[in-house]
Amino acid sequence: MNAVAPQPTRLADYTPFSFEIDSVELTFTLHPTATRVRSKIAFRPNPAATDPTFFLHGEGLNLISAHIDGTPVTPRVTDTGLICAVPDAPFTWEAEVQINPQANTALEGLYMSNGMYCTQCEAEGFRKITYYPDRPDVMAPFTVHIDSDLPVKLSNGNADGDTWHDPWPKPAYLFALVAGDLVAHSDTFTTASGADVALNIWVRPGDEDKCAYAMDALKRSMRWDETEYGREYDLSVFNIVAVDDFNMGAMENKGLNIFNSKYVLASPETATDRDYAFIEAIVAHEYFHNWTGNRITCRDWFQLCLKEGLTVFRDQQFSGDMRSAPVERIGNVLQLRARQFREDAGPLAHNVRPESYIEINNFYTATVYEKGAEVIGMLRTYLGADLYRAGCELYFNRHDGQACTIEDWLACFEEVAATDLSQFKRWYSQAGTPKVSASWRRDGDTLHLSLSQEVPPTPGQPMKEPAKIPVVLGLLAGDGTEILPSTLMDLDSPNLDLVFDLKDLGGGTAPDHVVPSLLRGFSAPVVLDAALSAQDRALLLAHDTDPFNRWEAARSLLREVLVAEITGQGTSPEQVARRDMVLSALQDFCTDESLDPAFIALVLTFPSEDDLTQAVVDAGLVPDPLIIAQVRDGRMAAVGDGLKDILTRYYLDLDPGPDYTPDADSAGKRALRNTALMLLSTPQDLALARAQFADATNMTDQLAALSVLIKGDDREAAQAFEAQWREDRLVMDKWFMISVASAPASEALQVAQDLSRHTLFDWKNPNRFRSLLGGLIANPAAFHDPSGAGYAFVADWLIKMDGANPQTAARMSTAFETWRRYDADRQALMLEALDRIATAPGLSRDLGEMVSRMRG
Ligand code: ARG
Ligand code: ZN
Repeated sequence: MNAVAPQPTRLADYTPFSFEIDSVELTFTLHPTATRVRSKIAFRPNPAATDPTFFLHGEGLNLISAHIDGTPVTPRVTDTGLICAVPDAPFTWEAEVQINPQANTALEGLYMSNGMYCTQCEAEGFRKITYYPDRPDVMAPFTVHIDSDLPVKLSNGNADGDTWHDPWPKPAYLFALVAGDLVAHSDTFTTASGADVALNIWVRPGDEDKCAYAMDALKRSMRWDETEYGREYDLSVFNIVAVDDFNMGAMENKGLNIFNSKYVLASPETATDRDYAFIEAIVAHEYFHNWTGNRITCRDWFQLCLKEGLTVFRDQQFSGDMRSAPVERIGNVLQLRARQFREDAGPLAHNVRPESYIEINNFYTATVYEKGAEVIGMLRTYLGADLYRAGCELYFNRHDGQACTIEDWLACFEEVAATDLSQFKRWYSQAGTPKVSASWRRDGDTLHLSLSQEVPPTPGQPMKEPAKIPVVLGLLAGDGTEILPSTLMDLDSPNLDLVFDLKDLGGGTAPDHVVPSLLRGFSAPVVLDAALSAQDRALLLAHDTDPFNRWEAARSLLREVLVAEITGQGTSPEQVARRDMVLSALQDFCTDESLDPAFIALVLTFPSEDDLTQAVVDAGLVPDPLIIAQVRDGRMAAVGDGLKDILTRYYLDLDPGPDYTPDADSAGKRALRNTALMLLSTPQDLALARAQFADATNMTDQLAALSVLIKGDDREAAQAFEAQWREDRLVMDKWFMISVASAPASEALQVAQDLSRHTLFDWKNPNRFRSLLGGLIANPAAFHDPSGAGYAFVADWLIKMDGANPQTAARMSTAFETWRRYDADRQALMLEALDRIATAPGLSRDLGEMVSRMRG
């Protein structure tokens, strides 16, 4: 246990660094256990600083020597860095340190993965490489020499032999180095202004034929950023490297992006449509950081959403342009609700711009990323596309080369739009998902619509101010015609009353019945409570011009039916009638052959068990995970039965054939076909799934069939898959995950325990660890087994992982963030697991902070 409790870092305490840096020169002499790093840094006093102390961060470094202007010095070295007396004038600092990449299992700083050297420096990993002011507001040009026998040696910027020079000043977190026996998939790109850029994707020999899609996504991203944001690439080479051991998805190091190999490598046989979509989005995301993150970076880590929220928003726009915008939007909202709403509703709720942290790595969250992206989307909704673009333009021009704050960003939009964004800014400083309630009444030819909002209390924030909420709404007449097209309403106070003249809107006659379509396109990240009857929602599903709200209507109808059944009201005549009505609404919807198959697939996808759990909690009841899983399975089978004809027809008609292409259209057909497969199959009837599993020529279809078979307890299929794919790491990750996630609840825990002893369970590999543990967590009926064995299994592994890789352990620990939802027995068991983690010897700062926040 730490003797001294770790101290929080606070936004309010920000002060600039005492020195500025003119240049950095690094020389690496690579060795698996004894790498030498020599640094030569030109410092100059910072006129804006108040504290003259020369403090350099450094962790786990063996300092060999230090010089100032050529004279040896003896700094005072602590656990976190060093302090040294320095001249009050420009000086050159030189140091040599020794580090051990092989022993670095935390995968932060310089580490080894399959014999290859690589780095991960964001957020604070550079201090594990050498002594340096490891903070994002200290920017400098870097020159890097790499001394090693390995054939490929890479760093940031442009190359001259084994020396790399990056002319663009950058903070240390964007530093990267890679060395190994690698091969490149290469291409070129010509920027809008005619500069040629060499593009390389570096992988281990044997993987070079799996890079084509990532390369294509890169080129499309580069072009898109030119046309949509006017941003061009700014070096003569752009390198991407795929590594197997990586804590997160990928990293935007200047000119040298490093990726988790699962977000680069793809072939039809080994990658699913979902994998392809992720590769496209993440390649784009990291590339877009070149401007939003690298050329303009963050002043401090509290401003993380400045680069992440914006860059997620940009990659979502890109995917929407490349694929179907409504389908992408629905997918993003599903993710937002599953991860961010869950976070916002529990003990880990925090602001989009947090105000204090113990370990910054714990704040790379759905709130900072995904809610951060929603905030940018709302800004754009308020300003419109043109002013949004003008504000971005001003931001790029004004702040190029700087380390900025949210205030800098917002000021650009206040200026171009001549508007005051101070209320809008509350989105950055108030945690919690606002609840918007809508009600309406008819008074002759007038419709009175009232909107109200409430922001719930969150840890440390008992009282909230009204948020500024863009509510896009339309009105439909009872026959389905739209009488009011999408209109932006500004809900910026607790209540907003709107009045509509229906006679006017109806072109002279007021329709008999009017149905509001609220929050179109999910115009704000809020929970909407609207008094829509089931009939009104069926009407929206059938006729709304807004695809998001069509989907939303279906989803809420299904959720309502399921919750009624889960809470024991399923047999009332009223509920039986409701179910029939929902089934026929789905039937009518599906029969519209003009719809995009991907969209139909989304409408037919049931709310997740986690989503239903929250719905039960929202209804004021205590969820039973086992009953939720059973009801959900049963209802899926019933819907499959009720829609048998149309689903069978889709299944037969939509087979895109053996020539796999990853484009959105083909993927959408496979998605609908596999949704049909899932609905049509039951543990008693696995024939269709068996045939598909046997005949599949691509991973999408093979994995979809396998999931159904595992659910039906077909162990042979799981074994056959294992035998076929044993040698492929990324495919085996899927197998570990699905074997547990899809297993029947009564078996899943045993399967997880068995797999944790499997020879291929390389637990120090984050992907493999996340597959197994994530598989169990994704099977709530097993994870929440009343014995507490699921909690104990996860807690044991978190404690073990924490000793090797605190960051990955801490991220996985959010499995426990929902403990307050459950019955007293489960709560006690979950708290027992958390307490056991909290008292584990040698607990990291990362996991320690997470557990203490969850414990509350
Ligand atoms: N900046 C990376 C991204 O775009 C995330 C890397 C964060 N890594 C970390 N260890 N905190 O998403
Ligand atoms: Zn990012």
